[in-house]
Amino acid sequence: MEKIIETKIHIGLEKPVKILHITDVHLVDYAEEDIPEKKEHLIRRRAVFEKEAGFPPHTQNEYFSEAFEIAERENALTVLTGDVTDIAAIGTRREFHRIADGHDFMYCPGSHEFADFCRTPGPDHAEIYKRNYDSFRESFPNLKVTFDSRTVGGLNVITIDNSEDYFTAEIYDKLRAEADRGLPMILFMHDPIGDWNLLRIRPINENMRRSPEEFLTSDSVLGFIGRCPLIKATFAGHWHGESEAVAPCGQKYYVTPGLFKGICRMITID
Ligand SMILES: [Fe+2]
Repeated sequence: MEKIIETKIHIGLEKPVKILHITDVHLVDYAEEDIPEKKEHLIRRRAVFEKEAGFPPHTQNEYFSEAFEIAERENALTVLTGDVTDIAAIGTRREFHRIADGHDFMYCPGSHEFADFCRTPGPDHAEIYKRNYDSFRESFPNLKVTFDSRTVGGLNVITIDNSEDYFTAEIYDKLRAEADRGLPMILFMHDPIGDWNLLRIRPINENMRRSPEEFLTSDSVLGFIGRCPLIKATFAGHWHGESEAVAPCGQKYYVTPGLFKGICRMITID
């Protein structure tokens, strides 16, 4: 690993809890069975990530394997916040399985997991998203893609899907139910809560098939995250760079750089 960001949060736990946050691995491997267009796309994307990462000494695949080893050695819970695969392809998913199977981790998806080539919503966005989402669920039946929670040492660790740049009503209900349990919570998601895509309250183009009500629900979730005293911090990826700030809703967010750069974050909560 080129860098492990150390983050310490004090909330008064009896014993420290360690979490290794990994995000934006962007696996770009193709399989012979993938269509030629996807192969060509993935070859181009490999070059894009090498350049964006500054030509690091290892591949994202190697950093991904190493991250699991670090988490296990440090007795840390591994949390992945999406864009593990750069696109939905046979090769990228096969590599996700090859590296991650047999390891214990929590997961939420990113904006790339269910895309054929890129994430820009076009007229057929909903159809492509659904097809890739369904095949992902089939390929990874053990991952709780929409919402997951796990209690570790008195801390409630939660993963949330906001990969389509909004929070659904289902997320709102589940988050409030978790808050009713009364434990301190740390949230993990793909889009940082300070991201402009999450902050908007209306569709930006005609291809965005979300109603004004759905955007308002998403905004209510942000308001809840800002108000709920049990939520101690939120962690995300998506931006590929390191960031730490307070979102307009009032809640703290940390952004971890892409693992393809050889960077991850070790969080210690005590
Ligand atoms: Fe990404």
